[in-house]
Amino acid sequence: MNYLNSTNVAAIPVIYLVVFLAFTCVCKGDEISGSSFIFGDSLVDAGNNNYLSSLSKADIKPNGIDFKLSNGNPTGRYTNGRTIADIVGEELGQPTYAIPFLSPNATGKAILNGVNYASGGGGILNETGRIFVNRLSMDIQVDYFNITRKQLDGLIGSSKAREFLMKKAIFSVTVGSNDFLNNYLLPLLSIGERLSESPEALINHLISNLRNQLTRLYKLDARKFVVANVGPLGCIPYQKTINQLNAEQCVELPNKLAIQYNGRLKDLLTELNENLPGSHFLLANVYDLVSDLIVNYAKYGFKTASAACCGNGGQFSGIIPCGPQSTMCRERSKHVFWDPYHPSEAANLIVAKQLIDGNTKIISPVNLRQLRDL
Ligand SMILES: *[C@@H]1O[C@H](CO)[C@@H](O)[C@H](O)[C@H]1NC(C)=O
Ligand SMILES: *[C@@H]1O[C@H](CO)[C@@H](O)[C@H](O)[C@H]1NC(C)=O
Ligand SMILES: *[C@@H]1O[C@H](CO)[C@@H](O)[C@H](O)[C@H]1NC(C)=O
Repeated sequence: MNYLNSTNVAAIPVIYLVVFLAFTCVCKGDEISGSSFIFGDSLVDAGNNNYLSSLSKADIKPNGIDFKLSNGNPTGRYTNGRTIADIVGEELGQPTYAIPFLSPNATGKAILNGVNYASGGGGILNETGRIFVNRLSMDIQVDYFNITRKQLDGLIGSSKAREFLMKKAIFSVTVGSNDFLNNYLLPLLSIGERLSESPEALINHLISNLRNQLTRLYKLDARKFVVANVGPLGCIPYQKTINQLNAEQCVELPNKLAIQYNGRLKDLLTELNENLPGSHFLLANVYDLVSDLIVNYAKYGFKTASAACCGNGGQFSGIIPCGPQSTMCRERSKHVFWDPYHPSEAANLIVAKQLIDGNTKIISPVNLRQLRDL
């Protein structure tokens, strides 16, 4: 089969999406709807890496095959359909998906509907994701929000902008996986942190940087936060494949590191809730949610939680990322994982709904619907 050049394929849907977003700002008079400002990695990137010369990109088919707004064309999302952040925004009544910051059309009133700064390969640490050459790390994502912050003042005036950010905006942060996968746990490459740091030292370093990043957002008037913990990294098809595990097994070290980091993240959010007046920091327990999906996949209607739907290599198609040359499964909604690293839209839907209306084991101290209405 002959496939189109990937960059040409990508340009078309992105333009459609951007045009759609540019014309659908639902800001009735002075009434501004709720919006999301999204930070993180490839789990929530909605197209920023399309504009970077990065080795981590999802602007090639069949990524996005179930994304309705682009008619199934790739948008830069690392999944077959919507990300968790897209679904959460929709369910909370936001008029459009948050526009990628690097999109040329992320200007004017479009930014009142939210902006997405997330970048595939990005992490809490600047060095994370260096193998991809280019990606936006969290420090840079916060710098970019500082630019948006000034644009908002210009658009609606500083007192309204402040009120909008404090009351109507939800700040979601989904980061940390790459600081392990594409830094500490990177096989062979000595550019990782592993050679020089113990797990405790790495995690201290991550938590102290994240504290700084979240506090900077607070200083820029962010109040309503949801921070996702790191999922069971040892259970993704990539890890199962390279370690030649059975379908039910997971790799121990990545999961151990994630659990250790997640414990410290919980303490950090408690600390910030106490120390930053008027703030609401929610912990999204993605680790337990996704672990439950993986163990009890059949109960949720999935056929497999080990094999990637789109990918190549090894028993679980877990080595080569999803692209035009990949084999793709027939029943995309029956796979927990879309590709070697990322959940399918079907899995994202289950996770998103739990974060919106779930109990305090999943999302605490309140859920996302309650956060919106605060
Ligand atoms: C931005 O939006 C305008 C219409 O407002 C459209 O003509 C243009 O193609 C868009 N640019 C990009 C890069 O999508
Ligand atoms: C990360 O890089 C940014 C941009 O170059 C810089 O401003 C920031 O201080 C760096 N962070 C750390 C912790 O070195
Ligand atoms: C935002 O940018 C201004 C400079 O324009 C700088 O003084 C300020 O420290 C920045 N704020 C944060 C939180 O980075």
